[in-house]
Amino acid sequence: MSDLKSPANFHWHDRDPGPELFSHAVLEGLGRTDKAVPFRFLYDKTGSDLFEQICRQPEYYITRTELCLLEDKAAEIADIAGPSVRLVEFGSGESRKGRLLLEALEDPAAYIPVDISKAALGAAARQAALDYPGLPVHAVWADFRTGFRLPLPDQGRIAGFFPGSSIGNFTRPQARHFLAGWRDCLGEGGAMIVGVDLIKPVAELEAAYDDRAGVTAAFTLNLLRRINRELDGDFQLSAFRHEAHYNPSTFAIDIHLVSRCRQTVTVCGQAFDFDCGERIHVESSHKYDVEGFQALAEAAGFSPQAVWTDKNHRFSIHFLTVAEISPSPVDA
Ligand code: TRP
Repeated sequence: MSDLKSPANFHWHDRDPGPELFSHAVLEGLGRTDKAVPFRFLYDKTGSDLFEQICRQPEYYITRTELCLLEDKAAEIADIAGPSVRLVEFGSGESRKGRLLLEALEDPAAYIPVDISKAALGAAARQAALDYPGLPVHAVWADFRTGFRLPLPDQGRIAGFFPGSSIGNFTRPQARHFLAGWRDCLGEGGAMIVGVDLIKPVAELEAAYDDRAGVTAAFTLNLLRRINRELDGDFQLSAFRHEAHYNPSTFAIDIHLVSRCRQTVTVCGQAFDFDCGERIHVESSHKYDVEGFQALAEAAGFSPQAVWTDKNHRFSIHFLTVAEISPSPVDA
């Protein structure tokens, strides 16, 4: 990725997400009793474009609310973070949120965007390097869930930044495991800034994941189109529908594609039967209250330092620091 046109402060690090093939994930996922396809496969080119549109839907409050909150509180966040921070952004995408923090931080020592989309990462990180010529930018192409070696230039506090409530796409035990893993990587003095969506009335939550314009439905159905195109599938898109339901026992929105009839679908030459109403799980988005997330962070070895919420209490941003005591053993 480093080429002659890259500025001198731009560095590219391949932590290749590896050969976890789309075909393998789909064939394995559709072969299960509880059918499922991992949500990262939603983001092909069309999927990424549709997701950008989701973020602009009136019902999808998450992106807007978090951006406003960040804009409002960036100075306070920067104040707590202190000078010379190395900012690691997990799932950096267009780097819009990371750049808001960079603008506010005092003398940041490095920006380390991490993303699974090579194209988005390359473009956004190169642009950041051009716009901040004095700032080393280390783009890391990786799947941040699996852990990887961070390029650690110079010194300075490391602050991980995990916006967008992406932490909600983990189950609670997975979220705790994820935080505990990064705790060890961040080391003493390390910090984590995490955007967390809050529990709210069911109607608001369900609408956010099933907008009236049908963009979210198109986004999840696009997964079937991708399977048809890349894996020689014969899904009829009109024979499935998008469904988003809040599960009060897990505090999660569960997103499924539901078969409208009894049917058999072929993918890569393999047949998969669907009953009428049978579902493919696509994603779950877990919601928290402030105290619940702080308790989870503490169990992962962090001390909550500060938390900000918007005035409507829709979304929260947490500032956590690595606690001196070790976390209790992770039980899942
Ligand atoms: N992970 C995001 C969230 O939980 C992205 C998202 C929004 C999403 N709408 C979706 C993922 C619909 C799958 C399906 O808010």
